[in-house]
Amino acid sequence: MRELAWINGKTMALADACIPLEDRGFFFGDGIYEVCRIYEAKPFYLQEHLQRLQDSAAEILLALPFSSAELANIALDLIREADCREGWLYLQVTRGTAPRTHAFPPAHVKPTLVLFVRPITPDRVGDTAGGAACITIPDTRWLHCNVKTINLLPNLLAKEKAKQAGAYDAIFYRPGGVISEASASNIFALIDGTVRTHPLSNLILPGITRRVVLKIMERLSLDYDERAFTVDELKVATEVWLTASVSEIVPVTSVDGKPVGDGAPGELVKRLIEEYGKVVRQYCRD
Ligand code: PDD
Repeated sequence: MRELAWINGKTMALADACIPLEDRGFFFGDGIYEVCRIYEAKPFYLQEHLQRLQDSAAEILLALPFSSAELANIALDLIREADCREGWLYLQVTRGTAPRTHAFPPAHVKPTLVLFVRPITPDRVGDTAGGAACITIPDTRWLHCNVKTINLLPNLLAKEKAKQAGAYDAIFYRPGGVISEASASNIFALIDGTVRTHPLSNLILPGITRRVVLKIMERLSLDYDERAFTVDELKVATEVWLTASVSEIVPVTSVDGKPVGDGAPGELVKRLIEEYGKVVRQYCRD
């Protein structure tokens, strides 16, 4: 495949793609984004990602000058032109390029729309089939985590701290020890026989993968409870897993150095990984 980018109507090699210095994404992180996995040349749950983009845009008072249908066409054309079969699509909208000032730019300033496609490489997904170690970390992010904002510095610091601790990822907790999500994934835990995950609120990103996993559980008549859990509860969970578009479902096998269950991916998460694979294959056939 070819690594291609699309910026405000022009397609180019990703390596040649440039954004003006005064883009508000660069100065202020004033924008929103989506990451969507591509299987067999098909962007998985694209409509849901585009709907979330519209929701994020509304939350940050950004008028999107493109409909979801227009964005879908741009994305599909780019995937075709790049000849991407297994990869991921990145889509970002910022409030445009304008002289640096905190106030929003005048209405004539057009948002910057950027898309690119890349292949799936081992460094992007990691080798997590055997499970992943995680650490817990205070959630010092802002209170609009439902917005897929490009303001990711607290997430980056958390991921780096995990890396330096020899772990795969960091799991955020809020005051009172309430677990919200991980640095770039949602989190589930099997506690006292019940699967729990934080309810949708301003404290977590409404993950598309989270939604797919809950749908799978409903279909299999597996009970779950969208009820937050604490760090103490996480430490007695018998299974824990993370969900995100690119890495899919990652079994967590240790938290803060303590094994989860017997320290290997559990039966339930293995079943969900298998079922998720079936959903992907079915989606590609439809
Ligand atoms: N991140 N929570 C956070 C903070 C995330 O950044 C992500 C995704 C998720 C999972 O959402 P979804 O299932 O829709 O991918 C939850 C993407 C993959 C990224 O930033 O690369």
